[in-house]
Amino acid sequence: MKETVVSGIRSTGRLHLGNYYGALSNFVKMQHEYNCFFFIADLHSLTTHPTPEHLNRTVREVVVEYLAAGIDPEQSTIYVQSDVPEVAELYLYMNMNAYLGELERATAFKDKVRANPDNVNAGLLTYPVLMACDILIHHGTKVPVGKDQEQHLEMTRTFGNRFNRLYNVDYFKEAFAFSYSDKLVKIPGLDGNGKMGKSNGEASCIYLSDAPEVIRKKVMRAVSDAGPTEMNQTKPEPIQNLFDLMKVVSTQDTLQHFEDLYNKCAIRYGDFKKQLAEDMVLATEPVRSRIQAISNDDAYLKKVIHMGAEKARESACRTIKEVREIIGIKKLY
Ligand code: TRP
Repeated sequence: MKETVVSGIRSTGRLHLGNYYGALSNFVKMQHEYNCFFFIADLHSLTTHPTPEHLNRTVREVVVEYLAAGIDPEQSTIYVQSDVPEVAELYLYMNMNAYLGELERATAFKDKVRANPDNVNAGLLTYPVLMACDILIHHGTKVPVGKDQEQHLEMTRTFGNRFNRLYNVDYFKEAFAFSYSDKLVKIPGLDGNGKMGKSNGEASCIYLSDAPEVIRKKVMRAVSDAGPTEMNQTKPEPIQNLFDLMKVVSTQDTLQHFEDLYNKCAIRYGDFKKQLAEDMVLATEPVRSRIQAISNDDAYLKKVIHMGAEKARESACRTIKEVREIIGIKKLY
């Protein structure tokens, strides 16, 4: 029996190179080895009150980009969270047995309260319960998430175990964080520090759907410095970041060429960035054209999303039926 992987992504819209060379490349590789559920967490997104148009558009964008990146809808189950109402039902049951104290203590919750003191809604508080249900509904045991979600996984285990204890069953399994490959390439942002990510600002990100012109503009504006002053000096972070990006999209020869120029203090950042931009445009061309093609094929997209929903519901309905049985919710008519 293949182990079950569950992964959710909030529908905040277009994916960037960090997603593509990071989590997504792992998803594509692991879908043959595991029973994978990849879903768009549109219900989770409601905590921030997106406009209906924005929500709808971004959910579609993420599905398109997952498919374009190589998620195989026949092999994996790719679905939209709200297409599986059983998740919402399980969420109701699990809320009865999640305690205010532990929910208030969650780091992500406290961070969001601090960032948005005017929107501390109950959905935000019980976000970890919904996330637990996403995983428990398919009996997932492996969850490819980063460090920031570790605590939510611990809560998932707590809720599952508590349910088992309350009803004296051995029903829900424990799920753990999982990285398919530790050898992920580093994708820094263009803003001079850290990882590529929306939290570091739009300018730090190259999106998979960015047109070549947009890519060129963003790369030319990337943070750099006044240039090296000593032979073979270590590169400051913004420069190292650009070299790290070049390592991913350019040939070894090109990379070496600019390394040598840097080491000889003869590098011209204009040329360097121009080359980086062109290689980035080239490297992303196949996925960009697949995004275009899939996005324009509404019939295909509908078919795939419908198929995902059916597969996910099949698994979810089984769980809900069993959970109702365990809880004692039985029809009296
Ligand atoms: N909380 C996750 C995030 O912010 C998204 C998510 C929701 C998720 N439900 C999930 C991830 C279930 C894995 C499994 O990234």
